[in-house]
Amino acid sequence: MTIECAQGRLPAIRPATAADLPACAVIINDYIDQTEWLSRTKSRDELAGFFTPELLQKRTVLVADVGGEIAAYVSVADGFLYAIYIAPGYRRSGLGKMLLDELKLQYPAQLELTVFELNVAARRFYEREGFHEVPERRDDDTEEGVPTLLMRWRSAA
Ligand SMILES: CC(C)(COP(=O)(O)OP(=O)(O)OC[C@H]1O[C@@H](n2cnc3c(N)ncnc32)[C@H](O)[C@@H]1OP(=O)(O)O)[C@@H](O)C(=O)NCCC(=O)NCCS
Repeated sequence: MTIECAQGRLPAIRPATAADLPACAVIINDYIDQTEWLSRTKSRDELAGFFTPELLQKRTVLVADVGGEIAAYVSVADGFLYAIYIAPGYRRSGLGKMLLDELKLQYPAQLELTVFELNVAARRFYEREGFHEVPERRDDDTEEGVPTLLMRWRSAA
């Protein structure tokens, strides 16, 4: 599928470089600030402090690059998806699916992630992309005070 972003430019999915990391930190920090039900457990600076070049040694980070602008990123290791965040102006244009499809190629057997129970939009998105909740892995005791659900995708093969 070829998608075009609102601005009419084609996104490129590529591995993140150290230079991309500050933009990734801004995307997740803005998401937290803009999400009413989600309380902040780390300051913007503390959270941005995780986006160092060492992160790229521990995890695979992919970005969606739209004409030089970082529109989205995912972070994954050992088939566990730690983060998928699309900047507000780029949501619901297929970028999340593009990034997940790339991860499914990299981890063809299985992918897992956790999602806040209150994040109805993301849960719908994951379900549409073939993820299912694993009820016994629900966590009611999170730092943020919002339960998380574990969701898993397994290849049909
Ligand atoms: C959830 C998220 C990753 C999905 O990525 P995306 O690029 O917006 O999703 P896509 O365009 O590939 O797919 C869109 C589909 O997902 C579902 N979806 C996404 N956002 C939705 C919303 N707000 N309400 C309902 N369904 C939604 C729908 O099925 C939608 O299809 P439609 O637009 O035809 O109805 C993205 O919206 C995002 O970054 N949200 C904020 C951060 C976040 O919640 N991250 C996940 C943390 S666990």
